[in-house]
Amino acid sequence: MAEPAPRVQRGLEEVVALESRICFIDGKLGRLIYRGYDIRDLAANATFEEVAHLLWYGRLPNAKELAELRARLGALRTLPDGLVRLIDSLPTDASPMDVLRTAVSALALFEPTETKPGAGAIAGAERLTAALPTILGLFQRRRAGLPKLAPRPELSAAAYLLYALLNRDASTLEERALDVALILHADHELNASTFAARVTASTLSDLYSSVTSAIGALKGPLHGGANERAIELADQIGSPDRAEAIVKEKLARHERIMGFGHRVYKVEDPRATILREWSRQIGEAKGDLRYYQILEQVRQVVHREKGLYANLDLYSGSVYTPIGIPKDLFTPIFAVSRVAGWTAHILEEYEDLRLIRPTAQYIGPLDLPWVPIAKRS
Ligand code: SDX
Repeated sequence: MAEPAPRVQRGLEEVVALESRICFIDGKLGRLIYRGYDIRDLAANATFEEVAHLLWYGRLPNAKELAELRARLGALRTLPDGLVRLIDSLPTDASPMDVLRTAVSALALFEPTETKPGAGAIAGAERLTAALPTILGLFQRRRAGLPKLAPRPELSAAAYLLYALLNRDASTLEERALDVALILHADHELNASTFAARVTASTLSDLYSSVTSAIGALKGPLHGGANERAIELADQIGSPDRAEAIVKEKLARHERIMGFGHRVYKVEDPRATILREWSRQIGEAKGDLRYYQILEQVRQVVHREKGLYANLDLYSGSVYTPIGIPKDLFTPIFAVSRVAGWTAHILEEYEDLRLIRPTAQYIGPLDLPWVPIAKRS
């Protein structure tokens, strides 16, 4: 009797591909856990550096470990001269995500990159987490005509990111808002870009190649690229009273509203809930609540019309824009944070390696007779 055709899980939806100790998502209850800690506790109390330590080492750092990690990350912000020259040679109208992908790939040519668990791989994780803001800052400063970037090792990851991009010191509120955004974006189980990183690492390819794969995957508008399009929609709407009509028109044309829906969450993404409050606080502090108010209207219409909930990409731009961050840097900032999660998953893959290789159900023809080229039409 013929074997029943295997059920194809398009997009690997709900396929459990591996075991992990890094991140747990309860899509029904809208819970997100990093190494046992609820994202709401981490967003309320931790810094991005503490979360990076938690993801890599499996536990929160004590005060001495945190101070040592911050010092290492500060010292690792400087790039090799050859890489700085390469970044300076790139077209100023290049996509910042392409610059990030290119520079991470090139950085591997200047320094060792690991393909096995242990101190070397964690050093690579710290190196990339420290270097990505510098790569972005060098490129942004050149295209914006800002002065050369100094390492500023004394600054926190969030403050350094803002200084790198805008050449100014962050206010306390801006630094905390960016720090929370970095915490919220740091990991999310087997999302597309993390899965791309693990597939690459599972072949025993190196850490930098695995992160390069992840950056390529994150760029897509169905994944990390949605945040830029969400703010473009808010700009197109322009004022809260125009939201309903414009969103309904888009839905009638079966367009996707960026920042809504999620493969795993069946309720609101808990990160969206947290970021919405930061969007309100930043808007209030900057005296411009327009984005917050527009997105509130959009959220109500999309939920009423489609039953869809907001995901974190809906709000990140409404936190970054009032701070002065250009929208084509939103997804790169997602990468600046997620590199901590990507590298944690790469380390976990190296520790318990299994080549990731699903199969496809072949639906093409079989046993076709060979046709010499002279006889082909
Ligand atoms: C991230 O996976 C992760 O964890 C990712 C992430 C992370 O931290 O790494 O959380 C980050 O990528 C968040 C998602 C950012 N992307 C967007 O906001 C883009 C817009 N969202 C969608 O394209 C969509 O919701 C996905 C891609 C996020 C999820 O899509 P699924 O699970 O494949 O669902 P689907 O495309 O099959 O849609 C199911 C239905 C469809 O309706 P019908 O055609 O069956 O009538 O819901 C509709 C879709 O049309 N739908 C939407 C919609 N999302 C789904 N309709 C309008 N707007 C949307 N945003």
